[in-house]
Amino acid sequence: MIFFGGDYNPEQWPEEVWDEDVTLMRRAGVTIATVGVFSWSNLEPEPGRFEFGWLDRVLDRLHDGGVKVALATPTASPPPWFTLAHPEAMPVTADGVRLSHGSRDTYCVSAPAYRAAARSITTELAARYAHHPALAMWHVHNEYGTDCRCDATAAAFRTWLQKRHGELDTLNEAWTTAFWSQRYSDWAQILPPRATQYLPNPAHVLDFRRFLSDELLGGYVEQRDLLRAANPDVPITTNFVQGGWVSVDHARWAGELDLVAVDHYPAEAGYGTEEETAFGGDLARGWGGGSWLLMETAPNLVYTPGRMHAKEPGQLTRNSLSYLARGSRGAMYFQWRQPRGGAEMFHSAIVPHAGPDSPVFREAIGLGRTLKALGRQEIGANEAQVAIAWDAPSWWALQGGGLPSADIDYAGAVRQAHRAFYHSGIATDFVFPGRDDLAERLRAYKMIVLPHLYLVSDEAAAALREFVAGGGHLVVDHLSGIADPAGRIRLGGYPGAFRDVLGIRVVEWRPLAPATSIALDNGDRGLRWSERVETAGAETLVRYAGDVLAGAPAITHHRFGAGAAWYISPGLDDAALRRLLDQVAAEAGVMPVLPGLPPKVEAVRRDDLIFVFNHGETPGQVQLPGPGQDAVTGRPVPTSVTVPPGGFLAVRLG
Ligand code: GAL
Repeated sequence: MIFFGGDYNPEQWPEEVWDEDVTLMRRAGVTIATVGVFSWSNLEPEPGRFEFGWLDRVLDRLHDGGVKVALATPTASPPPWFTLAHPEAMPVTADGVRLSHGSRDTYCVSAPAYRAAARSITTELAARYAHHPALAMWHVHNEYGTDCRCDATAAAFRTWLQKRHGELDTLNEAWTTAFWSQRYSDWAQILPPRATQYLPNPAHVLDFRRFLSDELLGGYVEQRDLLRAANPDVPITTNFVQGGWVSVDHARWAGELDLVAVDHYPAEAGYGTEEETAFGGDLARGWGGGSWLLMETAPNLVYTPGRMHAKEPGQLTRNSLSYLARGSRGAMYFQWRQPRGGAEMFHSAIVPHAGPDSPVFREAIGLGRTLKALGRQEIGANEAQVAIAWDAPSWWALQGGGLPSADIDYAGAVRQAHRAFYHSGIATDFVFPGRDDLAERLRAYKMIVLPHLYLVSDEAAAALREFVAGGGHLVVDHLSGIADPAGRIRLGGYPGAFRDVLGIRVVEWRPLAPATSIALDNGDRGLRWSERVETAGAETLVRYAGDVLAGAPAITHHRFGAGAAWYISPGLDDAALRRLLDQVAAEAGVMPVLPGLPPKVEAVRRDDLIFVFNHGETPGQVQLPGPGQDAVTGRPVPTSVTVPPGGFLAVRLG
C-alpha cells in the first residue's frame, strides 16, 4: 500500500465534521491519517486526567472507513497547565529569556519534568492504542529541533562532553581554549553557548549542536522504547525537519527509526520548487537507506517568509510522484482540513476553506487514483552512479561568525551541486561522511562530490582517498577538507584532508568582495571566493585571469591511483558548475537516466519503472530505452513518447 493522506486534527472540529472527513477521505482514496500531533491539551486536560474517548471515536471511525492511522505522541506541545506547574521545563534562549506557552515546541528536552510528562502520556497512549486495528505506525513527537540553554541543559551538556572528551584537558585542547583565556579547570565551569560579549568559541558551539542532536535523540528513543514494548510489530518513526536552525544530525538519527519520515516544504517559486523537491527526495532516500516516507508537504500554498506560493494545476501530483519516484513510500501532507483559526489557518490543506468543491481537492482525488494504481506495481530500487556528501556538522561549523566570508552557504553549495546533476538528468544519491560505513558505501559510486565538506575525520579522508585510488572520481571545492571534526584547522596548506589526493596546496584565501567576481581564463567568472592554489602533481585545467591571481590555478585535475580528483577553487555559477560536473561525469562513465531529455523534463528510474515528469510549458518528447506499459493505465507505451506540459508518465519497461 502506498501511504496517501496527512495530518488530521479532528480535535479542532465539532464531531459532525468527522463523518464528512471520513467520507471525503474515502472519496480521495486516502489510506492513512496522522492523528494527535498537537493534541496533548485535549488528551490530558489536567495533570494525570486523560480523556481518550474522543480519540477512540476518531480511530474507530477511521478504521471503519478503511483509513490507517499514524498515531502521534503529542509531546511537541505541552499544555499550559504543564508550563505553570513546571516553569523550569520551558526553554531558555541564549539571551537568558525563558519562553512561555502560547505557541508550540515550548519545552526543554533536558528538563526532568518534561521528560517525565512525555513518558507518562506516551505510556498511556501505548497502553490504549498499541493494538488498535487502525494503527499503522507511531509518529513520535513532531519535528525534533527545539533549542534550550537552561541549567538542566548545561548539566546534560557536561555529561555528554565528559563522554565525548574523557579528560577536561582533552576538551581544552579540542576547543583551543587557550585562545581568549577560556581554559576550563572544572567541568562545572562549562555552560551551553549563551550570549557573550563578542564571538563565541566555534568548537564550543559545534559541540553544543552535536550534544543537542544526541539529547533530542534521547528523548525520541525513550518514547520509542515505551511504544515498542507495548507492541513490537508497529513501526515507529518521527518526522525530520530540515533547516539551518535544526540541531539534529539526521544521518545519525536514521538508524534509530524503523522508517525515516521527512517533512519537506520546497519554498521556492516556479521551477525552483521542482529542483528542491528532487533534492529533498534524494537526501531523504540517503537517510533512509533507500526507502523513506514523505510525512508532510504542502498540498498548495506554502508558508514562505513574506509570501505564500500557490501550486500550479498538476503540480501537486507531479511533486508528490517525484518524491515517490525518489524512494518515498507515500505522499502525505500537512494537512487534511484547513483550520478556521490558529497560527497556520492560511496554510494549505487537502480540504481547503472553500470545501471539497475546490481545485486542490479535485486534484487530490485524481492523485489518489494514480497512487492506488501505482500501489499495485512492484516498485524497485533507485540506482545512482553519483553521490554528493551531506554533513550536518560541517553545515553547523560554517554558520558561525568569524568565517572568512559572509557569502559562505553550506546548504547552498550542496543544493547547487545537486541542481547541476538534476539538470543533466543524472541520478544522484547522498552519502554521509560521519557514518562508519562510508568506505563501503563509496564503492557503489563512480563519482563523489564534496561541496563545502569543511570538517573531515581522518577515517573519512582515508575512505575518500581509497575511493579515488580504487578508480573513483572525486570533486572537491574550496572549504572542503579544512578542519578536523573538532573544528581545528588541518595545517600545512588547505585542504589539509585532501592535499595529496588532489595534488594541490592552497596557501592563501582571497574571498571576493560583495557583488564582485573574478575572471577565469575559460571565459567563466569566479564568484564569491578566490584563493592562491599551488599544484603539487595536479594539472591545471582552468586558471584565474584577473587580480593578483592571474595565471594561478583555479580548477585542477589529478590522477591518483586508478582514479582522479578535481579541485574547484572559485565559486561558479550554475552553468559553469554543470559543465564541469558533466565533464567529470563523462570521464567517470556516468550515464544520465535517459539521454537527451528536453529542458524541464525529468526522469527518475526505479529498476524497470521509469517516471517522467514534464515541468515545462511545452510537450516533451522522450526516448525510452524500449517500449513498455503505462503503470497507471496499463496502456502500451511506445519507445518514443510525448509527455504533455505539466504532465507525467510512469512506464514499466518491457
Ligand atoms: C511542519 C510542521 C507542521 C506545520 C507545517 C507547516 O514543519 O510539522 O505542524 O507547522 O510545518 O508548513
